Amino acid sequence: MPARSTGAACLLALGLAGAAAAQEDGRKLFTSITPSCAVCHTLKDADATGTVGPSLDELKPDAARVAKALRTGVGQMPAFPQLTDAQVQALARYIEQATR
Ligand code: HEC
Repeated sequence: MPARSTGAACLLALGLAGAAAAQEDGRKLFTSITPSCAVCHTLKDADATGTVGPSLDELKPDAARVAKALRTGVGQMPAFPQLTDAQVQALARYIEQATR
């Protein structure tokens, strides 16, 4: 195999591993943050069955909508100022991907 395509395959593999790691982080955050998203939201991918807030499986929010909810809060849902930008992004992307 020519060196160039090996390099491309390697980059692709790294990219996929990165995406999988972000997915894993997002899922972990979803259930480990206090108060836990899972207490209030249903999300099948995270085995979450909360019913205080809308089911994210049905709402299917995109990443921007999740990030906004986490930053500003929505209605009864508290904001999560303790999250870093990276954590907000990981959660937002995770939820978008898990509900597509
Ligand atoms: C104390 C319960 C509670 C917790 C904890 C909670 N939520 Fe919510 N969430 C709600 C409620 C209630 C709503 C609906 C608010 C409304 O529409 O008035 C909501 C709405 C949302 C929405 C939709 C926002 C929109 O634009 O309509 C998203 C996305 C969301 N929550 C994600 C999360 C994530 C991610 C977490 C964890 C970091 C989380 N929530 C934690 C109660 C909660």
